[in-house]
Amino acid sequence: MTQEKNIMEYETVALDDDKDALVILDQTKLPGCAQLVSLHTGEEIWDAIYLLKVRGAPAIGVAAAFGIYLLAKKIKTEDYDVFYEEFCKQKAYLNSARPTAVNLSWALNRMEQVCIANKALSVAEIKEKLREESIALKEEDIQVCKSIGEHGLTLVKPGDGILTHCNAGQLATCKYGTATAPIYLGQERGYNFRVFADETRPLLQGARLTAYELQSSGVDVTLICDNMSATVMRNGWVNAVFVGCDRVAANGDTANKIGTSVVATVAKRYNVPVYICAPTSTIDMDTPTGADITIEQRPAHEVTDMWYEKPMAPAGVKVFNPAFDVTDHDLIAGIVTEYGIARAPYRESLKEIFEKKQAANNA
Ligand code: MRU
Repeated sequence: MTQEKNIMEYETVALDDDKDALVILDQTKLPGCAQLVSLHTGEEIWDAIYLLKVRGAPAIGVAAAFGIYLLAKKIKTEDYDVFYEEFCKQKAYLNSARPTAVNLSWALNRMEQVCIANKALSVAEIKEKLREESIALKEEDIQVCKSIGEHGLTLVKPGDGILTHCNAGQLATCKYGTATAPIYLGQERGYNFRVFADETRPLLQGARLTAYELQSSGVDVTLICDNMSATVMRNGWVNAVFVGCDRVAANGDTANKIGTSVVATVAKRYNVPVYICAPTSTIDMDTPTGADITIEQRPAHEVTDMWYEKPMAPAGVKVFNPAFDVTDHDLIAGIVTEYGIARAPYRESLKEIFEKKQAANNA
C-alpha cells in the first residue's frame, strides 16, 4: 500500500481477526512509504521484530501479544497440557527476537498468565481469553502513554526547547509515544515547543521516524546529527531532554538507544534535566542495576552499508554495534511513568510507583 494519509493516522500494530493476522506498519520503509504488512507465522513475526519493522519497546510488546495469540490459536489440541507446552515453545521463540526491551517478555508473560489462570477452561475458551488480553494490552498502552504525557507536561513550559533521541514516538507505541506524549499534548494546548531530534545512528530512527511524525503533526522540529547535542545545549536552546527506554533497572539505571548516555552526559554539563519516559511495563525491578541489562549487539552492515547507496566503510573493517547503552541513574532528573514521576533515590521511588499501580488495580 502506498501512502495516502497522514502517518499519524496509521496504526503501528493491529490485529486483523478476519485474516488471523498481525498487521504492522513497516517502519524500515519510512519515511518514503507507509506499507502495512500482514504477518501470520512465528518466523514472520520474529523477523519483523528482529529487523525492526516493528520496533520501540511498547510496540514490540503489543506485537508479541497479538503474535502469541495468533500462534496459540493455531495449536490443534483440546488437551490443556499439550496446548500449554506448545504455547511455551512459541513464547520462548518470540521472546528470543530481541533481548533488551523488557516489554517483550513482560507482554509474553502476561499472556502466559492468562493460560495458567484459566487452566480449568477449555482450550477454545483459553484462546478467546488470550485474544481479549492482547486487545486489552493495546488499549492500555494508549492510556499509559497519555498519562505519561500529562505527567511529563508538568516538567516543561510553553516555548521550551526539548531534545529527544531515537524514536519514542507514536510509531514506537500504539498512540502518542512516551517521550513524545508531552510534546503532542503540549501541541494540542498551544505550548509551541521547539524540538530537536537526534538523527540516531546507525538506524536513523530519529531522522526517519521522530522528525517525520513530529513534522507531520505540525510540531516545530529540527533534525540534528548525533554529535550536535552539545552545540544546541551550549547555545541554550534546550530546556529538557525527554527520551524513552527499553528497560529501567531497580536502581534507576536505564537502557535506551545507543547514544542516550552521551546526550545525558552532555546535558549534565549544561544543567539540562534528562527525563526518562517509561511505562511501568518497561521498569524491571528484577534487574538490580544497568550492568545486569543484556545489551543487544547488531550486525556490522547496519553501520557500514545500511541507508547508503554504497558501503561507507572499508570492506572487512571491525565494527562495534551495540543497539543500546545504559544511562547511569545519577544523570537522570526523573523517570516519568503513568503513575507519576519517580525521583532519586530510585530504588524507593520506583517501588512507590508500583505500589500506586497495585492500589489502582485493586480499586
Ligand atoms: O532499536 P529500537 O528502534 O527498537 O530502539 C527503540 C528505543 O530505544 C526507544 O527509545 C525505546 O524502545 C522506547 S520506545 C517508547
